[in-house]
Amino acid sequence: VELYLDSADIDDILSLHTKVKLSGVTTNPSILAKSNCGVNHLLSTLNTQLEPPCRFFVQTISTTVEGIISEAKKLHSLPYNIVVKVPATEAGLAAIKALKKDNISVLATAIYTTAQGFLAAHNGADYIAPYVNRIAQMGGDGIGVVSKLQKLITTANINCKILAASFKSVQQVVSVLEEGVKAITLPCDIMQAMYTHPAVNIAVDEFNEHWQSTFANQLSYE
Ligand code: E4P
Repeated sequence: VELYLDSADIDDILSLHTKVKLSGVTTNPSILAKSNCGVNHLLSTLNTQLEPPCRFFVQTISTTVEGIISEAKKLHSLPYNIVVKVPATEAGLAAIKALKKDNISVLATAIYTTAQGFLAAHNGADYIAPYVNRIAQMGGDGIGVVSKLQKLITTANINCKILAASFKSVQQVVSVLEEGVKAITLPCDIMQAMYTHPAVNIAVDEFNEHWQSTFANQLSYE
């Protein structure tokens, strides 16, 4: 499974990458604005520090087909392993179709429905990103959309990977992994929550107290 951090917080990313095997980092304009971090600074810093091969996802901002294509080509020409995120709007779908003729790696983002995700995959997107939590917040079934997309892509034999996105709980992450999704992007706090459980430290402290009460600081192999 490809695990990504959905973040532009360099300190958080560098800290988490020592604990979790990451395939790279995903961003969107809101994430970059929140960290007040430009693409060049983020990618040049992370590219030397994360383990290769490290993939970066950067989103286009233009709303016209020509604008998206030109932005995507510029991002593609940067000296990093970049997948261009294109929102799967009407213009975005046209841009994805055109960009695939130039063999540019594309992720179709802002996927809210199964039908929309299918079309993006059909147009050649390498990845599609259904928004699990945002769909749930609207009263929909985010996990269900992921599940149906997974089935459609497999049945139609389309060469496209689901990169599940938009998570607010560890349970959502586990549910999506149960669907067999092979790529997922998480905010740093949710990634951290995956390995943080109060019972873990309590159990480990108790083991150590029991050992020390009998063997003091002697190590088990001594
Ligand atoms: C991914 O493509 C999206 O940018 C992101 O995961 C959205 O997450 P959010 O719903 O937490 O903003």
